[in-house]
Amino acid sequence: MSAAAPYTLLAIETSCDETAAAVVRGRSVLSNVLHSQSVHRAYGGVVPELASRAHVQLILPIVRQALAEAAVEEKDLDALAVTTHPGLIGSLLVGVNFAKGLAIRLRLPIVPVNHLEGHIFSGLLEDPELSFPFLALVVSGGHTALFWVEDVGRLRLLGSTRDDAAGEAFDKVASLLGLGYPGGPAIDRLARQGNPHAFAIPRPLLQDPTFDFSFSGIKTSVRSLLTRLFPDGVPPEVLPDLCASVQAAIVEVLLRKTLRAVRQCRAQTVVVAGGVAANSALREAFQRAAQRRGFRLVLPRLSYCLDNAAMIGLVAHEKLCRLGPQHFRQLTFTASPLPLRSPQKRTPHAALRLLQ
Ligand SMILES: Nc1ncnc2c1ncn2[C@@H]1O[C@H](COP(=O)(O)OP(=O)(O)OP(=O)(O)O)[C@@H](O)[C@H]1O
Ligand SMILES: [Mg+2]
Repeated sequence: MSAAAPYTLLAIETSCDETAAAVVRGRSVLSNVLHSQSVHRAYGGVVPELASRAHVQLILPIVRQALAEAAVEEKDLDALAVTTHPGLIGSLLVGVNFAKGLAIRLRLPIVPVNHLEGHIFSGLLEDPELSFPFLALVVSGGHTALFWVEDVGRLRLLGSTRDDAAGEAFDKVASLLGLGYPGGPAIDRLARQGNPHAFAIPRPLLQDPTFDFSFSGIKTSVRSLLTRLFPDGVPPEVLPDLCASVQAAIVEVLLRKTLRAVRQCRAQTVVVAGGVAANSALREAFQRAAQRRGFRLVLPRLSYCLDNAAMIGLVAHEKLCRLGPQHFRQLTFTASPLPLRSPQKRTPHAALRLLQ
C-alpha cells in the first residue's frame, strides 16, 4: 500500500436509474447518498432517455450532499471515481462527463470503475477484513454470474446467465402478475405468506455441469401457467403461493450452482452481491448453507446490495493503492454499455478484460 493511503475519494455512480455519490476513506464509508428515480414506475421499467435527463438534474445536488454528509471539502479529496461500464450509455455518460469536468477543475486523478466489480467488492464494504481469494455470486437486474476472485483486477468468470438475469426474472414475473416495477421486492414480500411448493416452476440448468444460468424459462412457465389456470386473471389469494414458488425456484438454482462452485474451488469465503442479494429467502438459504457447509458468507447490507457509489469508491481506492495516483491522470477513457452476455466472455481472459 502506498504511503499516501488511505486516500479520500468522491465516487459517482449513474449506470442505470440510481443517481449516487459517496465519499470513502480507505475501506470506510463517510457518506453514501442515493436517489432512486421514481419517474420510471409508470412505464414498468427503466426508460433510458428519462434516466439520463434525471441524472443531469440530480447529479450536482447529490454530489454536494455526499460531500456535506461526509464533512469533506473538495480540497480534502485525493481522487475521484466513476462507473464507466456496463450500463445504459446515456446514464453512464452523465456521470463520466461530470466526473471528468470535476477532475479537470480540481486537478485530481480519476479512477474508471466497472459496475460489476463494484458489486463484487461490496463484500469489502461489509467486511473490511475480507481476504482473497473468494467466490462471488453477482445477482442483479442485468447480471447473474459466478466469479473466482483472487484480487482486485484478478477475477475469473466461472459462468454467467445465458439469457435473463435473476433480477430480470423477478421483474418480468412481477410484471405478468401486475405487481409493478421493480418486481423483486414485491415478490419477496408476498412470498413470505406463500407455499413454495404450491406450483411446479422449472429449475433451469440445475443439472447442467457448467456454472451457467438461464432464467428466461421461468417467466415463460409462469405465463403459460397463468393462461392455463387463470385465464380471467390471477385471484389475489393465489399470489403469495405463486410468488413463493417462483422465488424458491430462482433461489434453489442460485444456491445449488454456488455450492458446486464452492466445492470445485475449495472456497472458504463466498460473497453474494447485487440487488437480488437483498432477497430475504435467498439470504436465509445461503446463511443456512454456510452454517451447514462451514464456509464464511459475506452478505452486504441492503444499501450495499443495491446500486450505490460507495462500492465504486472502494474499488477505486484498492486500485489507487495498487497502481498509484499517477496511473489515473488520463481522461481518455469513456463510457460503454458492454453487456456480459456473449459466450466468448465466459473465458477467463475475457473476464479479466471485462473487468479492467
Ligand atoms: N428483495 C428482493 N428480492 C428479489 N429481487 C430484488 C429484491 N430487491 C431488489 N431486487 C432486484 O434487484 C434488481 C436491481 O438490482 P441492481 O440495482 O443491482 O441491478 P442493476 O444495477 O439494474 O443491474 P446491474 O447491476 O446488473 O447493471 C432488480 O431486478 C430488482 O427486482
Ligand atoms: Mg447494479
